[in-house]
Amino acid sequence: MILDIIRKKACNLELTREELETIFNGYLHDEVKDYQMSAFLMAICINDMSDSEIFALTDIFIKSGDVLDLSFMPSKVIDKHSTGGVGDKTTLIVAPIVASLGVAVVKMSGRGLGYTGGTIDKLESIPNFKVDLSEDVIKKQALDIGVVVTSQSEDLVPLDKKVYALRDVTATTNSIPLIASSIMSKKIASGADGIVIDIKVGSGALIKTRKEAERLANIIIKIGNYYQKEVRTIISDMNTPLGKCIGNKLEVFEAIDVLQNKVKGPLYDTCLEIASKMVSMGKNISEKEALKEVVSSIENKDAYKKFLQFVKYQGGDLEKLEINAKVYNIKANKSGVLKNIDALEIAKLSKSLGAGRTSKEEEIDYNAGVVLTKEIGDKISEGDILANLYTNIDKLDFNVERIFEIS
Ligand code: URA
Repeated sequence: MILDIIRKKACNLELTREELETIFNGYLHDEVKDYQMSAFLMAICINDMSDSEIFALTDIFIKSGDVLDLSFMPSKVIDKHSTGGVGDKTTLIVAPIVASLGVAVVKMSGRGLGYTGGTIDKLESIPNFKVDLSEDVIKKQALDIGVVVTSQSEDLVPLDKKVYALRDVTATTNSIPLIASSIMSKKIASGADGIVIDIKVGSGALIKTRKEAERLANIIIKIGNYYQKEVRTIISDMNTPLGKCIGNKLEVFEAIDVLQNKVKGPLYDTCLEIASKMVSMGKNISEKEALKEVVSSIENKDAYKKFLQFVKYQGGDLEKLEINAKVYNIKANKSGVLKNIDALEIAKLSKSLGAGRTSKEEEIDYNAGVVLTKEIGDKISEGDILANLYTNIDKLDFNVERIFEIS
């Protein structure tokens, strides 16, 4: 039976819901082996899935675990998700902005795997910040202050966790139907009324082309409609890192600078776009009106005050947040104009400094990371400092020309 299902997908024939249930639920309960699921996932990568297969798969994922019920909340709850990128600290900025405007944000986030830390690693770099919250604590905090960011519950979508771990080691991460059902099952199980998905495209992202990003956006919206959830998407660039700081504590400091209205540029703009969509959905107003509210929440410091309240509520101690690392510089080895800062190369560099992990067992050094000191388009003279490197590792190994394109 299992072999028939694998063969059917390998022959590019559409599977029924029952067939998908047999193989995926069998995998959850260890009746289907890793090698069988690997072959099946590869067949999906090669032959794709129809919309009805994607809806069925998302539903099977959701039903593999619990669903968080947030219907007791007096306001709409809006969630956000980014498909991941280098220097992406948007949750730290956007969640307090949106909550400061009376729209609740309850978000489950992951740890980073593959070069840079995830949102949970960034928050955990704040001394004493608690990231593992029980359902009761999540609900109380949502009611009390309207913003919660917690690590992904083990009880929500356990099937995705198991399948994702296998995808990671079998070169099957890049399938659009698998990405869509993985993301959307977790978002729907997390109980929000509306969801904004930021799809990153470029060298530092899972999705490499605009065409793939558009297909993913399309499927994600269809899945949202199927569950009567409002979903809006953004497609944003990840060829260069988002913002100047890459590395856990460094990114918290940069998020604070944005919330204190000290930083403009692509990071600020992306946060405004995500926050406006969330507020627009939460308050049933236009994105234009929402944008005005978002900008004033930064200007009048309401968003920053909400951030302080949120960090304190989850036990974090910002007074103790400091970087303990040696600082080195990367200098330009020629003059010209800075044409590109490669996101993937920066991610590899920051991992080599200690800021990321490539296996779950690896420890992250929260102090480590990169601060970019020049922007694309800047004129550069030989010897100019292009970046500061923070690390507790003695032997540095990088190639300036791979990271910084100057011509
Ligand atoms: N993020 C997810 O949660 N799942 C994917 O498959 C890709 C990105």
